[in-house]
Amino acid sequence: MSTKPHWEKAWTDADPQSKSWYQDSPAHSLALIEASAIAPGEAIIDVGGGASTLIDALLAQGYENTSVLDLSHAALETARVRLGEKAAKIKWLCADATDWTPAHPFRLWHDRAVFHFLTNEEDRARYRAIAEASIVPGGYLVMATFALDGPEKCSGLPVRRYSAQTLATEFGEGFRLVEETIEEHATPGGAIQKFQYCRFLRG
Ligand SMILES: C[S@@+](CC[C@H](N)C(=O)[O-])C[C@H]1O[C@@H](n2cnc3c(N)ncnc32)[C@H](O)[C@@H]1O
Repeated sequence: MSTKPHWEKAWTDADPQSKSWYQDSPAHSLALIEASAIAPGEAIIDVGGGASTLIDALLAQGYENTSVLDLSHAALETARVRLGEKAAKIKWLCADATDWTPAHPFRLWHDRAVFHFLTNEEDRARYRAIAEASIVPGGYLVMATFALDGPEKCSGLPVRRYSAQTLATEFGEGFRLVEETIEEHATPGGAIQKFQYCRFLRG
């Protein structure tokens, strides 16, 4: 069953900055993206980007070929309104990360707190197949999920938690783990949530 109604409601029922996953500055993601040495014109996508400020930071750093995909129209609209005229520089894709056809390949695919909602193996297999087909060889997958000792739920939905090793096993031989880090994310409500970040090289 699609979680789209859940996410449309989640993004319209309260201030985006009050959401548990909200970050003023997506520092861990930016560090892993910077380490990937992506040229300004190469394609980057934030999968399940929601209203994250990562896209603002990528624009500010001069990346010119960026896309944000999300299941929720309301989330994308929040980001678009925040960015004003700059929003026209971004491709906004309202789609399910387990069921879409990329229009072009990507040099870097970023996902923070989206893959961990895929508790069903078939959904994960579809997500992986799209990532495998659309990340160019030599490109990167930057993935952040709740860590093994992170919360069991996110936005009230059950999640699958990962270590760097279990994520590497999940993505298989086509992706080589090159870097990993843990974020102790402080939620706007003051709780600490542990995230596992991994950067994989697409072989
Ligand atoms: C916990 S939020 C994280 C948002 C953002 N990545 C961040 O770190 O701030 C999860 C996001 O994933 C989106 N989402 C959930 N399931 C999805 C799916 N199957 N396909 C695309 N987006 C999805 C939700 O709408 C929401 O914006």
